[in-house]
Amino acid sequence: MKGVILAGGKATRLRPLTFVTNKHLLPVYNKPMIFYPLEAMAKAGIKDVLMITGPDHAGHFLNLLRSGGEFGLNLTYEIQDEAGGLSHAVRLAESFADNQKLLVILGDNIFEHDLSDAVKDFESQDRGARIFAKEMDEAGQYGVVEIDSEGTVLSIEEKPKKPKSKLAQTGIYMYDNQVFDLIKELKPSTRGELEITDLNNLYLKQGILSCEVMKGWWVDAGTSFDELLRASNQVAKLTKQKDK
Ligand code: G1P
Repeated sequence: MKGVILAGGKATRLRPLTFVTNKHLLPVYNKPMIFYPLEAMAKAGIKDVLMITGPDHAGHFLNLLRSGGEFGLNLTYEIQDEAGGLSHAVRLAESFADNQKLLVILGDNIFEHDLSDAVKDFESQDRGARIFAKEMDEAGQYGVVEIDSEGTVLSIEEKPKKPKSKLAQTGIYMYDNQVFDLIKELKPSTRGELEITDLNNLYLKQGILSCEVMKGWWVDAGTSFDELLRASNQVAKLTKQKDK
């Protein structure tokens, strides 16, 4: 299984912090934001990771992360010329994937959950996709996942006005190699993007989408200034616990 980290986008919700730099290079406690998903990849046992960024700050990512050796990873870089949505970005990983399954992590997602068991489990499964969810008070600012009592996914809706549950779809996804054919079927959403939720719904329609509820805290640090601050506070707490 190979890894893909999506670190493009305009991050308008974090302006003015993101006028001249990329969101994923902003500090979260004592490290640049992008370090955390890279560390999560390494912890999950993934070696080859593709970093997908926009053209404006790609050089900064290269300067900062170089070969990825410091993280125990082999990094490859790809440019997303225009911000066309998360599924549009995943499509750029086609030749890198080389028919292997993919673990995709959004570069602004910071979390405690250890993905290594899920990686092993997903490797052994024939086909399908897996999403990861976390109960959040204001689930409507995320993709919202509705599951039944057995954990079967019933629906996923992107930032709904009336969320059907409190379960937020996090920015961690696992895909088999049919993902690229499915992305080709997607149509742009009302905001003109190829949405990750639409892609996941194509797996749901085939009955091969599973959902794992994550342990520990999870933050999408790109949501708001408050969530960016919460990410720093959570990481600070964890770092100090480990240093004791
Ligand atoms: C994206 C997805 C959304 C998901 C979120 C998690 O939203 O579209 O479904 O809940 O990532 O981080 P974005 O933060 O890009 O608006």
